[in-house]
Amino acid sequence: MNILIIGSGGREHTLAWKIAQSPKTTQLFVAPGNAGTAEIAVNVPVGVTDFQAIKEVVLDKSIDMVVVGPEVPLVEGVHDFFLNDDQLKNIPVIGPQKSGAILEGSKEFAKEFMMRHQIPTAGYQSFTSENLEEGYAFLETLKPPYVLKADGLAAGKGVLILNDINEAKAELKKMLVDAKFGSASTKVVIEEFLSGIELSVFVLTDGKNYLTLPTAKDYKRIGEGDTGLNTGGMGAISPVPFADATFMDKVENRIVRPTIEGFQKDGIPYKGFVFIGLIKVDDEPYVIEYNVRMGDPETEVVIPRVKNDMVTLLEAVADGSLDKVTLEVDERAATTVVAVSGGYPEAYEKGKEISGFEAVEDSIVFHAGTQLKEGKVVTSGGRVLAITSFGDDFREALETSYRSLEKLSFDKMYYRKDLGFDL
Ligand code: AMP
Ligand code: GLY
Repeated sequence: MNILIIGSGGREHTLAWKIAQSPKTTQLFVAPGNAGTAEIAVNVPVGVTDFQAIKEVVLDKSIDMVVVGPEVPLVEGVHDFFLNDDQLKNIPVIGPQKSGAILEGSKEFAKEFMMRHQIPTAGYQSFTSENLEEGYAFLETLKPPYVLKADGLAAGKGVLILNDINEAKAELKKMLVDAKFGSASTKVVIEEFLSGIELSVFVLTDGKNYLTLPTAKDYKRIGEGDTGLNTGGMGAISPVPFADATFMDKVENRIVRPTIEGFQKDGIPYKGFVFIGLIKVDDEPYVIEYNVRMGDPETEVVIPRVKNDMVTLLEAVADGSLDKVTLEVDERAATTVVAVSGGYPEAYEKGKEISGFEAVEDSIVFHAGTQLKEGKVVTSGGRVLAITSFGDDFREALETSYRSLEKLSFDKMYYRKDLGFDL
């Protein structure tokens, strides 16, 4: 099969690495890809939301399956674009149609979905500029901290957590009236704060049957001890030690199954990954958010632990036969540590040459923000590399990733040295 992956980060390099191992893969393409995907696939210089250009690649390269990495093309309807085109409609797309992608594209939709299907989540109400005063009044009924969420996609920045009621009111006004997050904050969900420890569960579904993939925990803050600004993710571990069998039974029965059944009850066709962000409060799981794709950097630890042939799994998603597949998981722990450009997540420089790849032996180096320039691999983003390793437990795996990181370098490289500190 000829397969096209859409995206350019560590997640897409990992998916490419896994799909390239399948004997079913003939040719693999990544649009637009990075310097890492260029080593194992053919990069095509096409943007992730340029559907017309994607169509040309699909026809030109005789693509048999498309795997969508990031959320933006899904929310903008790339799968629907295929279904509505006579030349593309029979080519399977892994990733939901718009009607499913809205689970990530609208926080209010996600909350209503959870309410409808009795899936545990924080209590909430949503507001627009029309009922700002009611928003203030709702804030008065809550205890601090206050959680404000822009309804739409805001590149992971749309959630504010504030301790002071006056600050919360001022921010609510900035979001609704001053369009702090553009059109994403035309509507704001205010929710009850949940206190606990977070983890993520990934589900692969054909819309009816599903497989629950290994759990993962990511580290979002730039600074050690989970301090400083939020990032796309500074590292991840899998499995999550505190997600034991009893807890996972609750997740399965109260969250995963009701979610997939909810798709069916609501008439939402869904073929692809569901990323469920959870928080464990005492011993009970609650949903913090849904994403309609794999996480990044969680993919870099979840997918390497899946032993099945990836193309076989994705074919079963496409043709609705996931019930015939048994998931096989590597029992070892996996960790990934992300090396970022100095200054990230604020301003940083690009174009720094990266050296040391050949010296890394015990880890897998996934590329995120890299690019080939005059035959050299240079930095081209905030998150640059994700170094994945295996071990008997996450501590052993982490030591290996850290040893490998010492062999890699680029000007102003930074990474967190404390992953797993909270476990
Ligand atoms: P989200 O973009 O929905 O994942 O939210 C970003 C982060 O905000 C989450 O990873 C949580 O750490 C935090 N968060 C979101 N909702 C809540 C909540 N109801 N209670 C506590 N923390 C939350
Ligand atoms: N690591 C969080 C995300 O992919 O959204």
